[in-house]
Amino acid sequence: MQIRKAIESSKARIGVVGLGYVGLPLALEFARKFSVIGYEIDDRKREMLSSGKSYLDDVTSEVLAELLESSFTIAETPSDLKDCDVLIICVPTPVDSNGDPDLSYIRRSSEIAKEIAHRGMLIILESTSYPGTTEEFLGTAIKDAGLKPGVDVALAFSPERVDPGNTKYNIRNTPKVVGGVDRRSTEVAAALYSTIVEAGVISVNDCRTAEATKIVENIFRGVNIALINELALVFEKMNINTWDVVRAASTKPFAFLAHYPGPGVGGHCIPLDPLYLSFKARQYGIEPRFVELSREVNESMKRHTVELVTAALEAAQVSPRSATVAVMGLAYKKNISDTRESPSTGIIEMLSARVKDVVVHDPFAISITTSTRRYDSEPLAKVLESADCLVFITDHDEYTKLAPSDFAGKRVKAIVDTRNLFDGEEISRIGVEYRGIGK
Ligand SMILES: NC(=O)c1ccc[n+]([C@@H]2O[C@H](COP(=O)([O-])OP(=O)(O)OC[C@H]3O[C@@H](n4cnc5c(N)ncnc54)[C@H](O)[C@@H]3O)[C@@H](O)[C@H]2O)c1
Repeated sequence: MQIRKAIESSKARIGVVGLGYVGLPLALEFARKFSVIGYEIDDRKREMLSSGKSYLDDVTSEVLAELLESSFTIAETPSDLKDCDVLIICVPTPVDSNGDPDLSYIRRSSEIAKEIAHRGMLIILESTSYPGTTEEFLGTAIKDAGLKPGVDVALAFSPERVDPGNTKYNIRNTPKVVGGVDRRSTEVAAALYSTIVEAGVISVNDCRTAEATKIVENIFRGVNIALINELALVFEKMNINTWDVVRAASTKPFAFLAHYPGPGVGGHCIPLDPLYLSFKARQYGIEPRFVELSREVNESMKRHTVELVTAALEAAQVSPRSATVAVMGLAYKKNISDTRESPSTGIIEMLSARVKDVVVHDPFAISITTSTRRYDSEPLAKVLESADCLVFITDHDEYTKLAPSDFAGKRVKAIVDTRNLFDGEEISRIGVEYRGIGK
């Protein structure tokens, strides 16, 4: 196959559709070795990228600008991708208002694939979806272009495992799973990723196995977080410190993997991806109960967090109705600015119905928008002076550096700690009420 030679000689031209958290770092990684053209539908993002400005925490504007001068181009229209030898699709896979997969982005990208598909090309889907998506959408697009998937156009799925904000693992040192519609497609896709992934490429039998692999990884995480969240609620009543329990259990050298309780799960993956499998499973007459149950338990942690806030305020003899509560952390996980599906949104909504004022702080995210309004992050010093209660949602490094002395002598009367950031006894010693999830 011609494409194989083009990959091995670094002459393959690579097109990436969707330049978000997944697509942009991937495009830039390939651009170190290949000529890459990226297409982003959002005008604002496209303009920023074209002028060398990154909107991602993990991509510096310096690296972007450097590659824009050499091997990376931003496409103006999808037809600019027509000369690509490889097309990689990294578009969103959200859910609709019923919690069912919203495949409109994949459908639209499949139209691009249909428009530019040509003999000898390789097309890869990276967006997370239920098993069968690659063949259902891209296989059909290739056929609609008058070509045969696997014969005329190699077609594969390769799940993305990027972990934004993770300073240890990146594209290069995270093994990549690849599955094609036939053996040749798998081999070509594996050859492509081997050029940038040093940790190795794992080839699986077909696209559906690769698609299922990604969904399993995220269901595994969602279910285990839910399990420890449920146990944390039990241990709170029993006055057992869940964090100490997990730390001790983690010393078992086999068959235990630490997961920690918290205010719920967020981001584009863990809360949503399992719903893609549920949707498909229902078509086979099966309701995956773990998926639904874990979602329910993880969701309930937001309400529990709000209950801890009112309990802490009451114990501090501050009426919730007259209290200002500061939500500390808007991002769904530490040291990034991404607020998608963040538990903070629901917590702010519930709190705003119970307390006088809600203010917010985040060292990375500048604001968060709930169903009713936008909340802008306020300076830390101002928040510490104005809030009766601080509820820590995200374990940003900036928060782990805070000490009881930072709260002493301020207005703060209560602290709710959903991430085990503080020693409760030390906080109580400065006269501030402390409540922690799982403690
Ligand atoms: N963010 C993560 O940590 C992560 C990790 C693993 C897998 N994933 C999966 O990867 C996929 C992409 O996620 P993401 O976080 O990068 O999403 P994102 O929203 O950050 O990026 C997707 C980009 O695609 C663009 N887009 C949408 N339709 C387009 C089209 N027709 N043409 C060109 N551009 C288009 C959007 O404007 C957006 O910028 C999802 O399926 C997600 O579940 C995400």
